[in-house]
Amino acid sequence: MGWLLIILSLTVLWIASLCKVLFAPSKASFLDNGHCFIKKNVLLVIAHPDDESMFFSPTINYLIARGHNLHILCLSVGNADGMGNLRKNELYQACAVLKVLLEKVRTLDHPDLQDGFGKVWNHSLVAKIIEEEISGAGIDVIITFDQYGVSGHCNHRDVHYGVCKYFHDTSRRDIEAWELVSTSLFRKYIGPIDIWLSNFYSKRIPERLTHCIVNEHPKKSFHAMAQHSSQWVWFRKLFISLSSYTYVNTLRKIDK
Ligand SMILES: *[C@@H]1O[C@H](CO)[C@@H](O)[C@H](O)[C@H]1NC(C)=O
Ligand SMILES: [Zn+2]
Repeated sequence: MGWLLIILSLTVLWIASLCKVLFAPSKASFLDNGHCFIKKNVLLVIAHPDDESMFFSPTINYLIARGHNLHILCLSVGNADGMGNLRKNELYQACAVLKVLLEKVRTLDHPDLQDGFGKVWNHSLVAKIIEEEISGAGIDVIITFDQYGVSGHCNHRDVHYGVCKYFHDTSRRDIEAWELVSTSLFRKYIGPIDIWLSNFYSKRIPERLTHCIVNEHPKKSFHAMAQHSSQWVWFRKLFISLSSYTYVNTLRKIDK
């Protein structure tokens, strides 16, 4: 009886939260200085094709809706086995759905940066690649994983450390870097319900250091993920529906 009550309330809470996301999303103020709108050149650095749709789509939808210039740098073609081109094309298709301009999406297939657990990525190499990308595209905001990297995947974490290395070594003072806050396993799988918790946690920190971004187009995210056909198996569909990263992102400013 007790369990039934818990499941019933969770279901009601789930539906109510989903309605909140779909029909009354709270507006974030990330990269918004209040009075005059300034278009930023933003670089999202990810490790694998599908990271953008699985984890960062609330942020991508937010930036694109506000007309920022979004660049995506994907440091590997994923667990390829000769499927590198396929995965790369899937990334481009997902980006087309997310309305990211394709000429601003770059994928690398570097021998020292291959997908996989236990494959350590050289942080200096990652930092060097990011530096080239940033000077080439006039980037002023970087977004990437935090040190846990959502799932604890070592490639995600190495991307974080590479970005931090670039950020700490660069002499440029006008660049901002933001990381996607990894949540606990419980929060990771409560789907839209996590908007309340993300909101609660980010409210406790000064606004210029953290932003809670609720997905303004969750259907688009689902559609983008579906473009990764080689990955689009039942457990991914389940993951993307249950994952709180489909509905909300919390970004935290990386300290200089
Ligand atoms: C890491 O990359 C940097 C820059 O490309 C290089 O100078 C260095 O030798 C590399 N370190 C290792 C251990 O491979
Ligand atoms: Zn990944």
